[in-house]
Formats: sequence, structure tokens, C-alpha cells
Amino acid sequence: MQILLTGGAGYIGSHTIIELDKAGHTVVVVDNLCNSKEEALRRVEKIIGKPVPFVRADVRDREAMDHIFKTYTIDAVIHFAGLKAVGESCEKPLEYYENNMNATFVLLDVMRRNGCKNIIFSSSATVYGDPAQIPITEECPKGHCTNPYGQTKSMLEEVLKDVQKADPEWNVVLLRYFNPIGAHKSGLIGENPNGIPNNLMPYITQTAIGIRKELGVFGNDYDTPDGTGVRDYIHVCDLAAGHVAALKAIEKKCGLAIYNLGTGHGYSVLDVVNAFERENGLKVPYSIKPRRPGDIATCYCNPAKAKAELGWQAQYEIGDMCRDSWNFQKNNPKGYEE
Ligand code: NAD
Ligand code: WQD
Repeated sequence: MQILLTGGAGYIGSHTIIELDKAGHTVVVVDNLCNSKEEALRRVEKIIGKPVPFVRADVRDREAMDHIFKTYTIDAVIHFAGLKAVGESCEKPLEYYENNMNATFVLLDVMRRNGCKNIIFSSSATVYGDPAQIPITEECPKGHCTNPYGQTKSMLEEVLKDVQKADPEWNVVLLRYFNPIGAHKSGLIGENPNGIPNNLMPYITQTAIGIRKELGVFGNDYDTPDGTGVRDYIHVCDLAAGHVAALKAIEKKCGLAIYNLGTGHGYSVLDVVNAFERENGLKVPYSIKPRRPGDIATCYCNPAKAKAELGWQAQYEIGDMCRDSWNFQKNNPKGYEE
């Protein structure tokens, strides 16, 4: 199939191009580069050994999007484009709602006008809020999202469900990602956050390389085995492969389908620090800080539905994730340089 990746220059999108290519699909990327660099695509080209068609445009730009659909025969869209920083979304709610919602509205309208009704949407475990059950299955009710970013994911899921309900020709796959970390084993592409990282793994790698003095561990008084927050970390290459598997559901005309993409294992903050130190033979200085507002104690999934229906299962373990995250950081101490 020919797949349009919105936000395809970003962290998850760039890794997904490689998995799509491996599976014999062709790609087109649209990205406005507001949180990524074109260099990521150059590096993907190096890895796959062929050019990656790229259109620098905003998904909210209806004309530019229409032009893409008129130029290429797009069979399905993987919609990664969106703003994703939880803290920033609390400071700039309007920008987050405006970008994430409008980009999706324009995309869906342009898609249907051009007769493409197949979409995979990047959703998030954040839609479960403080989860009603652990491990989290797809039947678990959605919860209250404590930030505008999470609200956009939850609201867009509902928009997509309604669109599919009104016109059953649509095939909509909602992928609820858990915590993606790691990088392609080449060390050429990986996570390249702007400014001070919000997420745990880039903070750890930047501390290990000396950009940050020490990691702050946000709370050690949660009701978890060691008191620190527990999450379901998944290797970004496994996550990328999950999108290829989801295309099979689209090919089978799935209508609406929802899948958790996680490993099903929960690791605490200190488990991750220990695994990182062990795997890479490094020390990561840390100190215990107060809890971060909006954080929950425990979040990990039951990934059985994706295994049963898509034949997809995570392959990598926490040690692999720590090794590959470090490999990217150490090879790219300043991220992508153009
Ligand atoms: P990312 O920021 O690296 O990639 C998103 C890409 O979208 C960036 O390249 C950015 O430039 C682009 N973009 C944003 N708004 C755009 C617009 N209006 N038009 C065109 N391009 C635009 O983020 P990522 O980690 O690769 O995440 C991809 C998707 O997965 C996002 O929707 C994110 O919310 C979702 N997600 C991410 C995580 C995570 O922890 N990384 C977890 C769950 C869900
Ligand atoms: C993981 C654990 C922190 C940083 C976020 C979004 C979620 C999804 C994935 C997009 C928590 C602790 C972190 C640090 C720490 N994104 N931590 N010190 O919060 O599970 O999920 O990213 O959809 O929506 O909320 O990920 O990596 O920020 O935190 O102690 O400097 O690490 O408290 O327990 P989180 P995270």
C-alpha cells in the first residue's frame, strides 16, 4: 500500500517508515517540522537505501493536503502529526486544541473528498486517565485526562468513532501507545526533544552524557513496589511494527478497531534507572523530588488483543530499550545536526 504519514519526520513516524518499507509498503511524509528536523528523514533514507518523498506542509493547510492526495494515490493515512508535550499543553491549551483538533478535521475532510477512508490514529494510554483496572484492556473505560494534550487525544478518538459510524466505508484504527522509548539500532535516528526533556528516558540519557546534572525522580511514595511510578515502556521499533500490523486490520476492512500497544510489563522509575546503568555500564545520578502534578502511580496494559487479532507482540526488552536509547544519545550528543 502507499501510506501517507502525517508527522512522519517525528520520533515515532521516522521509525515507522523503516518498518513500512521492510513490509513492502511505500510512503509519503507530510510534516511542518515544528517539532522535528528534515535530517531525520535523510537518515531514514540512509537506513532504507531509497528516497523518502517529503512534503513540508502543515496538515491544517487544506490546499497543500489536497495537493498531496491529487499527486499520490494514498491507500491509507497514519496520523502522527500533533503537539505532544503534556506540561506545555497546560500553558498553551488553545494552541494544543487548535493544532491537534483542526489538523485532524482538515485531514479527515480532505481524505473523504479524495476517496481515502483508511486511517490509523496515534492515540495514547493517557485516554484511560487514572485507569480503572490494571493491566489495562481496551474495554477499560476512558478516564479523566488531567491535561489539554490528553483531552485532544480522547476527543479525537470520539470524532473518529463518529465519522466511522456515520459512514461505514471508513476503516479507523485507534492505537493507544504506552511509553515509547529506545531508538533504531543503527544509532542514526532516535528521540530528539527540544529543550529540557519532559519524559523519563531522554532525561536519563541527557544526564548520562552530562547535559543534565541529575535526574529528578518524581515521588517515591506511590503505592508501587519501590514507591516510584510504574509504566509500560515499549521499544519504538516494536511500536512502529504495530502500525504495519494495524494496516492488516485495515486491509480486512475492520471498521472501527482499538488496540493497546505496550509490552504488558510495568517498570518503575528506579527499575529503568537500574536497567540503564546495568546495560550501559554507566551511573545516572538522581535524587528524589516531589510528585509531578497529574502523574498516576501505575499504568501498564494487557496487549493480548493486538496479539490475537493482529499477530503483533513486542519483541524487545527493557535492556534493549536502554541500550538503543543510549546508543542514539552517545552518537548524537547534540541531537540532529543539519
Ligand atoms: P513528535 O513530536 O516527534 O512527532 C510529531 C510530528 O508532527 C513532528 O514531526 C511535528 O513537526 C509534526 N506536526 C505537529 N503538528 C503538525 C501540523 N499541524 N502539521 C504538520 N506536522 C505537524 O512526536 P512522536 O513522539 O513521534 O509522536 C507521534 C504521535 O504519537 C503524536 O500524535 C503523539 O501525540 C502520539 N503519542 C506519542 C507518545 C510518546 O510518548 N512519544 C505517546 C502516545 C502518543
Ligand atoms: C514516566 C515516569 C514520571 C521524568 C507521558 C504522557 C503520556 C504519553 C507518554 C503521549 C513517571 C517519571 C519522568 C523525570 C521522573 N505521551 N519521571 N523524572 O508521564 O507516563 O507519559 O508520555 O501521549 O501522555 O503523559 O511518561 O516519561 O514523562 O514519565 O521521575 O524527569 O517517569 O513521574 O512516573 P508519562 P514520562
